[in-house]
Amino acid sequence: MKVAKRHIAKTFSWRAIGTLDTLLFAWLLSGNVEKGVSISAYTIITKMIWYYLHERAWFKSTIQNPNKRHIYKTFTWRLIGTLDTIIISWIILGDISAGLQIGGAETITKMILYFFHEKLWYRINFGLDQRNKRKAKKETDAKTNIVAHDFEVTQQEREERLGQKGKLIWFTGLSGSGKSTLSNATEKRLFAAGFATYALDGDNVRSGINSNLGFTEADRKENIRRISEIAHLMLDAGLVVCASFISPFEKDRNMVRQIVGAQNYIEIYVCTPIEECEKRDIKGLYAKARAGEIDNFTGISAPYQSPNAPDISIDTSNNSVEEATEMIFNHLMTKLK
Ligand code: ADX
Repeated sequence: MKVAKRHIAKTFSWRAIGTLDTLLFAWLLSGNVEKGVSISAYTIITKMIWYYLHERAWFKSTIQNPNKRHIYKTFTWRLIGTLDTIIISWIILGDISAGLQIGGAETITKMILYFFHEKLWYRINFGLDQRNKRKAKKETDAKTNIVAHDFEVTQQEREERLGQKGKLIWFTGLSGSGKSTLSNATEKRLFAAGFATYALDGDNVRSGINSNLGFTEADRKENIRRISEIAHLMLDAGLVVCASFISPFEKDRNMVRQIVGAQNYIEIYVCTPIEECEKRDIKGLYAKARAGEIDNFTGISAPYQSPNAPDISIDTSNNSVEEATEMIFNHLMTKLK
């Protein structure tokens, strides 16, 4: 009910416009000003109720494109509004054809007026302000009232104790490309060589800390942002972190780079072609995506942007896990010490 006052204000502003329009046509077409006034007066009551409910219903709609939204709304409202005018005019004039005439006549003018009324209100924040203000306050509080404490054990000291440098090895690629397998094999190889390691993986993180996120562009960005911050802490602890996430957007991978520092970020593009990933379909997700059972599935109904300059590219349909791991390990040896 937070936005009720917005719906109410819109109901009144539209009723002022709508009533004038109905009055004009009811008066002209019935040839009687009193009848015109009484038709428009009755429709004030019924239409305000309908309009308010229509607003509430549309507020929940997920159609975000403004023009598409305004046009669809114009049509749904006109259906309700015209029916209302026809019925009220019919009752008052006792003549259905007069009712149809008035309802029909106002349709075009009302649709034009309604569309522009929607466009105007779309720019007005009234009724949304409280929520926006509260959100803005929370964000400023978080920024202004947090003071970093200087802890006395430094990243450098932790790294010296472990005899290594904190690094993030980021595996990106399609679902089923072999990211997790390679990440796992790489961690195992590093661990066996004496490194202190940790592995972060899409399916694990998404069932825990990111269990409230889905696969829209915004959710994927938040998924990657949180993972980057977690990895950043692990790097501060001096660990070598192997992370395997589809991370399909170049800008999100740039965000990782920025959060952990470009010098700490090693990118491995697992470029196994989609045909091969789909053929493997280990989790059965490609079949589901093709059947329309999963939305925004990377490679099928959502994009994957290939990295521009990865440190290494590996196609797991051409290389065995052992070969690929050796290639990665040798490359890492030039960077980790
Ligand atoms: S990312 O795009 O946000 O980086 P992430 O790597 O965390 O994705 O998760 C991918 C895993 O989620 C896949 O391996 C797959 O098991 C599962 N998954 C479920 N739905 C989807 C989807 N729509 N697109 C891609 N992966 C999905």
